[in-house]
Amino acid sequence: MQILITAERIQQRLDELAVEIKQHYQGQPLTIVGVLTGCLMFLADLVRRLDMPIRLALVQASSYRGAVTRPGELRVRTDLLPDLRGRHVLLLDDILDTGRTLVPLVEQLRAMEPASLRVGVLLHKEGRQELPLKPDYCGFHIPDLFVIGYGLDYNDEYRQLPYVAVLPMPSSSTDLA
Ligand code: IMP
Ligand code: MG
Repeated sequence: MQILITAERIQQRLDELAVEIKQHYQGQPLTIVGVLTGCLMFLADLVRRLDMPIRLALVQASSYRGAVTRPGELRVRTDLLPDLRGRHVLLLDDILDTGRTLVPLVEQLRAMEPASLRVGVLLHKEGRQELPLKPDYCGFHIPDLFVIGYGLDYNDEYRQLPYVAVLPMPSSSTDLA
């Protein structure tokens, strides 16, 4: 498996992101909203570096991009969320690819009238974005490759890897069976 970002580099980068986040919020209470399921490793490792008042919340977003559904249709389960009105909110996801997940999610969270809303992603894939969004915190910029590990899945597998790797491509299409 071709490792793109080692576990050590991820952990070092999280140290830096935690410093940036703490400097920005200056001890003000923060609600971190993670996007299931890919955010889990990023969220868990990052929040343990944030010695400030933190609440954790989760949101589930699933996109249906198959031939039978409209492209980009996003289902969001906000019933898992606490009241965000007047709170400083940081939305965390594993990767910003086209933006079809995060952009509508940001709109939905804004409608809940938080005091502020920022976005953090572990990865930002270059050259793929369709909807405009500039993350406030970004771990790494990566080339246009399908990656797995550290929360990111292929068919719901590989999320538990401590590093980010490029998904090995089958040598011929018959291997896909
Ligand atoms: P977007 O909505 O196109 O920005 O994509 C965001 C979602 O697509 C992420 O939360 C991931 O679940 C998934 N995704 C995009 N690129 C990759 C990848 O390279 N590996 C695994 N999942 C990905
Ligand atoms: Mg995801």
